[in-house]
Amino acid sequence: MIEMKNVSKWYGDFKVLTDCTTKVAKGEVVVVCGPSGSGKSTLIKCVNGLEPVQEGRIVVDGAEVTGSGAKLTKLRAKIGMVFQHFELYPHMSVRDNLCLAQEKVLGRTRKEAEARSETLLTRVGMIDHVAKYPGQLSGGQQQRVAIARALAMDPIAMLFDEPTSALDPEMIKEVLDVMVGLARDDGMTMMVVTHEMGFARKVADRVVFMDAGAIVEDRPTKEFFDAPESERAQDFLSKILQN
Ligand SMILES: Nc1ncnc2c1ncn2[C@@H]1O[C@H](COP(=O)(O)OP(=O)(O)OP(=O)(O)O)[C@@H](O)[C@H]1O
Ligand SMILES: [Mg+2]
Repeated sequence: MIEMKNVSKWYGDFKVLTDCTTKVAKGEVVVVCGPSGSGKSTLIKCVNGLEPVQEGRIVVDGAEVTGSGAKLTKLRAKIGMVFQHFELYPHMSVRDNLCLAQEKVLGRTRKEAEARSETLLTRVGMIDHVAKYPGQLSGGQQQRVAIARALAMDPIAMLFDEPTSALDPEMIKEVLDVMVGLARDDGMTMMVVTHEMGFARKVADRVVFMDAGAIVEDRPTKEFFDAPESERAQDFLSKILQN
């Protein structure tokens, strides 16, 4: 579903990604972790063409993301993305947040969009808040709405960039539970930047560990946790698992 081959990227003189190669098969969940500044956010932004790359190839669902012929608008409509900071439209109700792109991009009627929104809001436990504005919701609630909004577009894959790292501890679980459900019940293809190692152990098929712009390990989850090969990953895990 997602294929990345020998991708390198620079910000000016600074090489932010070095020769990154990985794949996410349909229905697979891949967790991306690594120290701050190692290029995790950049890597997943490249997947839906939010950041251009200078070398290598990225192909999503058979369509080229890199290169001049890429149809990025079409691609982005098919890939759901959820960031660390809730990106809901603050001046719109929860209902309108979910309906907007369904109507404008997918051409659904208002009625169709509302029906789909309601199904998804029920799914993430937010149907009672459909008329509220984002400012009236907790961080965890906003993040669940953001996930529902992404799902409303019927994405072929979902990208998450530290979706729980700005949340208070008691809200982390409610968001992770929704993500676990997506992985287990829907078989959603997911690429998730997170330091929630419990989540990784539970649902990830593979873990990609990055350091200084390079993919240092890309291994089945159990192998990664039981016996990380690199010293960097061992060090990272010992620090993160202490918390
Ligand atoms: N727009 C930009 N211009 C220049 N440098 C950038 C830009 N965005 C990120 N960088 C640099 O690229 C490197 C990787 O950044 P990135 O945000 O991908 O890291 P990360 O692994 O997601 O880190 P974190 O865990 O803190 O979110 C960092 O050194 C960062 O300073
Ligand atoms: Mg980041």
